[in-house]
Amino acid sequence: MAKAVLLAVLMALLAVLAYRLLDLCNKLGVFRELDPIEPANCHLIKGIEYGSEDITILPEGLALVSSGLKYPLLHSFAPDQPGQILLVDLNKPVLTAVELKISRGFDVESFNPHGLSTYIDEDGTVYVFVVNHPQHTSTVNIFKFEEEHNSLIHLKTIRHKLLHSVNDIVAVSSDSFYATNDHYFSHDHLKTLEFVLGLSWCSVVYYSPSEVKEVATGFRLANGINVSPDGRYIFIAETLAHDIHIMEINPNNTLTPVKTLHVGTAADNLEVDPETGDVWIGSCPIVSKLFFYSPENPPGSEVTRIENILSKDPKVTQVYVNNGSVLQGASVATVYEEKLLIGTVFHKALYCELHSS
Ligand SMILES: *[C@@H]1O[C@H](CO)[C@@H](O)[C@H](O)[C@H]1NC(C)=O
Ligand SMILES: *[C@@H]1O[C@H](CO)[C@@H](O)[C@H](O)[C@H]1NC(C)=O
Repeated sequence: MAKAVLLAVLMALLAVLAYRLLDLCNKLGVFRELDPIEPANCHLIKGIEYGSEDITILPEGLALVSSGLKYPLLHSFAPDQPGQILLVDLNKPVLTAVELKISRGFDVESFNPHGLSTYIDEDGTVYVFVVNHPQHTSTVNIFKFEEEHNSLIHLKTIRHKLLHSVNDIVAVSSDSFYATNDHYFSHDHLKTLEFVLGLSWCSVVYYSPSEVKEVATGFRLANGINVSPDGRYIFIAETLAHDIHIMEINPNNTLTPVKTLHVGTAADNLEVDPETGDVWIGSCPIVSKLFFYSPENPPGSEVTRIENILSKDPKVTQVYVNNGSVLQGASVATVYEEKLLIGTVFHKALYCELHSS
């Protein structure tokens, strides 16, 4: 009797595990076939070779790019080189990245930048928030951007136990932000187990100097986060559910879920067009290829646009799909005027002219 029960329990566990693994393969795009979509006028950005994981564009068309991410299990073309923040002036006819100098006193050797966000105060001061992983930890660095010197002045480094595996960030004032944790665990092996089992234990944290709190939880790899142009809604990418969550910001900074939109791709970063409110998603269509990197069979790139995200009937369209022959492992897409910029986890960056037709 006891043996039969044990056997039944074991079979049930195996069935659950098999189901979880199959679902994971599905969510990682293992079985996907790619139909290319490539706008006519695309060019690589000069000076970006080691990643452009996150990109944020200032109102006058200066793009800040985080480059050189080193992350457990992910490939890097420059594993021994520190990460950088690059600047690209989108008003130029040919786009070229230059490295921003970082003020003295900041440890540039261990700089490992990931998510980026900016906040501009009433005086026009530009604050740049950077998720950084020195020595496998998670910190948030706040810098002041000095355009005239192409430099970043380090203001503050934030560490907090609730900010234990930070992926992306959205600044809501000069010293407060919302951030996603892409894992519940901090230890690398436990992270892998969490990933394989498909646990939905990731969170979103609100941080200000006077208060730090978890404001949403239950995500299966919480990734990109951003805010609507009116500052009322937060958008969160739940990568391994292929969902975008829309949440309203309350006066006490907590979040109230509004709705969830299924986008059919493992969304990485989310960028919001300040003019139209459209949400742009960069993603890797076959995520498993990010982990088992092969130059002959590289990870591809996908860009998805969501129009009218707050309406009853949002429109979700694929704008760019490439099998990695041009651009490997997209992680972010954003627009400035008629230019679409696409960044990648560890590869180059592309821009395409989007002529409204
Ligand atoms: C924060 O505000 C929301 C909505 O107004 C409310 O439901 C919630 O209870 C508040 N939470 C706290 C901790 O005050
Ligand atoms: C990617 O697509 C190009 C055509 O766009 C094709 O020539 C190439 O063989 C494809 N590569 C892989 C790895 O499928």
